[in-house]
Amino acid sequence: MDNLDKAREELVALFSHELKTPLTLVVGWCQVLQDYKIIGRLNAEQKNAVDVISANSTILRNEIENILDTKKLIYGTMLFSFRKIELNKLIQRIIKRLKPVTEERKIRVVNLATKRIILRTDEDRLEQVLSNLIMNAIDFVPRKTGVIKVGTREEDREITFYVKDNGKGISKKIHRQIFEKLFQEDSSYRRKHTGLGLGLFLCKGIVENLGGRIWVDSKLRKGSIFYFTHPKKVKLRRFSLRRRKQ
Ligand SMILES: Nc1ncnc2c1ncn2[C@@H]1O[C@H](COP(=O)(O)OP(=O)(O)OP(=O)(O)O)[C@@H](O)[C@H]1O
Ligand SMILES: [Mg+2]
Repeated sequence: MDNLDKAREELVALFSHELKTPLTLVVGWCQVLQDYKIIGRLNAEQKNAVDVISANSTILRNEIENILDTKKLIYGTMLFSFRKIELNKLIQRIIKRLKPVTEERKIRVVNLATKRIILRTDEDRLEQVLSNLIMNAIDFVPRKTGVIKVGTREEDREITFYVKDNGKGISKKIHRQIFEKLFQEDSSYRRKHTGLGLGLFLCKGIVENLGGRIWVDSKLRKGSIFYFTHPKKVKLRRFSLRRRKQ
């Protein structure tokens, strides 16, 4: 990477950081407005307006997180912090968090994770991988008939996660390329599907740092299944560990 690239990346990261704080406030206040117990019931038009703001600020916030984390992956400065979590509950929480987007598009997201699997992992990073895969699926399934299934399969030494959609599918010749930084299949899709092409690069980086693998199985027009594995015992380099916030 030359100096100009480096300077550009630093600038983007700095800029993104500045955007993150006000956006977090927008997302937070939307949640307050959506909770009738706090603020009272909104009428249908008000509710619709808040839902649109909420759905789009959620997408934007995810995008900013991705830019900041891509920089960390490139420079090898991403840190991890572990504790035991119940996977079914995590997936349920992610689905709930994405509700503003899925409800707006009338897409169904189903949690098929096995009950009571406990895994020692970095919860925030695992959430980021799953959210990115689900957000992609949301973008490529049809409105109203879109169905996304999220699940887990337990094996001896690892857990396999999957995110299955009935979207437009991905042709076999780009199954590897989609995990590259800034890769997007078709620019004509951009009007419908926004983003920078960082999500899968980030998923791959996080999954591999945790000792797993990620791949896709998909046929054009039939839908896609993204899989990734997570070892039950993660071996990290010492310097990649961060203390948990108290
Ligand atoms: N579920 C899916 N169905 C069809 N195509 C997909 C799916 N997931 C990813 N892709 C293809 O892979 C490309 C790369 O995905 P990736 O998540 O890295 O970037 P993005 O979603 O375009 O942008 P970003 O994640 O930065 O918002 C997408 O642009 C799309 O062409
Ligand atoms: Mg994406």
